[in-house]
Amino acid sequence: MHSFKELGLVNTRNMYAKAINGKYGIPGYNFNNMEQLQAIITACIETKSPVVLQVSSGARKYANQILLRHMAAGAMDIIKDAGVDIPVALHLDHGDTYELCVSCVESGFSSVMIDGSAHPFEDNIALTKKVVEYARKHDVTVEGELGVLAGIEDEVNHEVTHYTKPEEVEEFVAKTGVDSLAISIGTSHGAYKFKLAPGEKVPPLRFDILEEVEKRIPGFSIVLHGASSVMPEYVDLINKYGGNLENAVGVPEDQLRKAAESAVCKINIDSDGRLAMTAKVREVLWEKPGEFDPRKYLGPAREELIEMYKHKNENVLGSAGKA
Ligand code: G3H
Ligand code: 13P
Ligand code: ZN
Repeated sequence: MHSFKELGLVNTRNMYAKAINGKYGIPGYNFNNMEQLQAIITACIETKSPVVLQVSSGARKYANQILLRHMAAGAMDIIKDAGVDIPVALHLDHGDTYELCVSCVESGFSSVMIDGSAHPFEDNIALTKKVVEYARKHDVTVEGELGVLAGIEDEVNHEVTHYTKPEEVEEFVAKTGVDSLAISIGTSHGAYKFKLAPGEKVPPLRFDILEEVEKRIPGFSIVLHGASSVMPEYVDLINKYGGNLENAVGVPEDQLRKAAESAVCKINIDSDGRLAMTAKVREVLWEKPGEFDPRKYLGPAREELIEMYKHKNENVLGSAGKA
């Protein structure tokens, strides 16, 4: 058993409370490899932003759970070495079983998500409650989910969105004891969030649902998933350098800014990082077809990621300077 406290990590309790009061969003950034983690922590050190480092079950399989723990520990040492004190949580993203959540708590995660949103309401409550009861013993915070986001999460592909029903949130929160709640208000995972006719604009998120949720559970921490903007500059670069991402559309940044000013205290962004990296790797390999040193294309990709995360912290989430 490795306690997150040994690693210098924190759970999300204070972070989220401060974010709600201060009207900003904490970044929930996913990582699967060294370059992504380096970019996240460099950007958050430079902008003095708190951060939730997110690991999905797919990331655990890809990068090896033991190595991931050491990577997070290394990140904490780098932060300390930089002489800054930014709160960092290590969080399981979209945990789908009790056993997976237990395994993450045992390996030093300070926060877990149990995503029971694909189950019927009562089963979601039972599963989430069981995880909360276990996590409490280790001071680990738990995120639950109500409502279903369309898109791909690991092997699970939800074709359609089911918006969160505000009338369910009080019962869910009271019966499970969760610390935060992910809701579905029109975002979805991945790079194809909206199907638009030519000339059509992205529809607004369902802020009416968010407001109704806030009324029913005032001050409670809300999480927004599927919050990449699918930044057009990266989509264009990918397509320019041999890629094929047609009709990729994300959530406009002004809508995310508005969400960050509400009870939404964490905003999950993964796809924008994937796009930024891919765009840069494609550009370098296209421009320099003789290049075969991974540092020569992963290095520029990492630099681009740092700029992208700094931009999010400063201009979208408002988390810069809040550490
Ligand atoms: O919500 C999904 C995250 O972007 C993680 O994606 O399950 O492919 O690692 P992944
Ligand atoms: P995006 O696919 O919009 O980046 O969403 C990421 C996410 O919600 C991770 O849980
Ligand atoms: Zn998600």
